[in-house]
Amino acid sequence: MTLLEERLGLDDYIPALREGFQVDEKPSLEFRMASNALKSLLNDRSVLEKVLELLAHDIHFLREQSANLFNNEVVLWREPDGCFSLRMAIWTKGSDVFIHDHNALGVTGCWFGKLLVENWEIKEWLSEDKVKLELKEKIVLDQQYTIYVRPQDQGLHRVDLAEGDFAVSLSAYARPKQRGYIRRFDPLTGAVTKIYHPVRQQRTWAKQLLEIMEKS
Ligand SMILES: [Fe+2]
Repeated sequence: MTLLEERLGLDDYIPALREGFQVDEKPSLEFRMASNALKSLLNDRSVLEKVLELLAHDIHFLREQSANLFNNEVVLWREPDGCFSLRMAIWTKGSDVFIHDHNALGVTGCWFGKLLVENWEIKEWLSEDKVKLELKEKIVLDQQYTIYVRPQDQGLHRVDLAEGDFAVSLSAYARPKQRGYIRRFDPLTGAVTKIYHPVRQQRTWAKQLLEIMEKS
């Protein structure tokens, strides 16, 4: 049986990404290496085509994507020791587009089409679940260009299609800070909503239920 990374054509790129992600916090020289490794993958359209073929025709690969946090997210690789993951997202009408944060430092690039990236800033916490937000910058990412994504409060962003019908982003994220959720921010009301991974939520419920059942 062929390994997934071989089927996707990722095996040429994973060693360089692994080397670049031996970091935890700030972008460093090593992290720039990861960014360069991602850029070389962004140049390889054949890998994108293979991923799309699997999504279109391989029900097992498709089912693996059903529990992702965003409806347009496709997890291509999780390094077994957790030091990085590689995720692509399809941007089109109906994609999950909202301001959010991540729990890890990352680098995002454009693999197809044109992406709009908005970076937002928390100006003030009005209550535990309400903030005042401000748009910091808008960037249009052409194919093969990358930007850094900072974790949690420093990295609020919104990605969308800049033009055309489809765009594809490819992101590599470092080891996440364990928090168990990401946050969604509403720029109009300032509401902050926690989004839990559906699988983790089920695990928490199952553990709670088991405890209750043991006592009864
Ligand atoms: Fe994001």
